Amino acid sequence: MTPIKILITNQKGGVGKSTISANLAAFFALKQGIKTAFVDFDKQSSSSNWLKKASNFGIEICQAHLQNQNNSGLVLLEAKAALRGCTKAAELVIADLTWTHSLPSEFMLEFDMIIIPSSISRVEMASSEIFALEYLQRNLAVARKKQQIMVMVPSRIEPSQDTLGMFPFVSGNDNCFISPPVLKVSDIDQYYCGSFLCQAEDEGVAKNFCEFGSFIYEKYCSIARLSKLIQSGASISSRSYMQGQVMVPGAIKNSAPISALPSTPLKNERFGRKVVDLFIPQFLRAKNSVEKNEGS
Ligand SMILES: Nc1ncnc2c1ncn2[C@@H]1O[C@H](COP(=O)(O)OP(=O)(O)OP(=O)(O)O)[C@@H](O)[C@H]1O
Ligand SMILES: [Mg+2]
Repeated sequence: MTPIKILITNQKGGVGKSTISANLAAFFALKQGIKTAFVDFDKQSSSSNWLKKASNFGIEICQAHLQNQNNSGLVLLEAKAALRGCTKAAELVIADLTWTHSLPSEFMLEFDMIIIPSSISRVEMASSEIFALEYLQRNLAVARKKQQIMVMVPSRIEPSQDTLGMFPFVSGNDNCFISPPVLKVSDIDQYYCGSFLCQAEDEGVAKNFCEFGSFIYEKYCSIARLSKLIQSGASISSRSYMQGQVMVPGAIKNSAPISALPSTPLKNERFGRKVVDLFIPQFLRAKNSVEKNEGS
């Protein structure tokens, strides 16, 4: 069986990738009973340390520190090999990776779901969205064909902060979703390497992380259903899948259409051409022009 692969990434540092990835792996293994493997691409190893040092409940942990930083061909091979090596016996693989430009963006196509955490700060949101759009601009056709899901995660959010309207450009695209926010945990250090947010004694913390985890779990189930259907020979077009109209051959032919993903109507076909030029938020453009003027 091929495991479902989830990548938690962003090129921005400190956005909560390691916290979310370690705790999401714990949520899947502990709360959903899914055989989970974890690949830590990060040299600081904070997520794998968290998983190793808190009680071990069967998550297979691999560290994969990429060496060939200056050669995108080699680093791609190395990253793919690391992923394959770690993931043989699992139903789900979760990987934590700080993105760098030495990695070719096709590496993200190895995954069924890309999770991009970002705080609500305008600069961080804009750079996270540009990161997502640049990837989509290069890889949209293949990502669509593979039914890859992208999830933007509002991370370290204060309960009073409103996340409505975050990531407006990415959220208009097929298969892109915004998850429930992961709220700021005031005493997060007490959990690090000790326990996990989904089983926190503070009910609010546990409830919040489980809400986020359940959202990702729902997407995981959609992917698992789709891959079972494909194995059974179902004919699925990208649009019919998005609209929940999957035709199943043979014995289950007469069953009701399978509701796959919550349907997100195709709003427009704006990707594939100068997306970043078109959608860089105004304030970044303004900032760039100020810098240019100062330099001249
Ligand atoms: N939900 C949260 N509530 C409070 N603090 C958080 C939360 N998520 C992350 N943090 C804190 O923010 C800091 C950065 O988090 P984390 O290490 O998970 O980010 P990262 O994106 O993996 O960083 P890096 O780019 O350095 O790998 C850490 O000090 C962490 O404890
Ligand atoms: Mg990290």
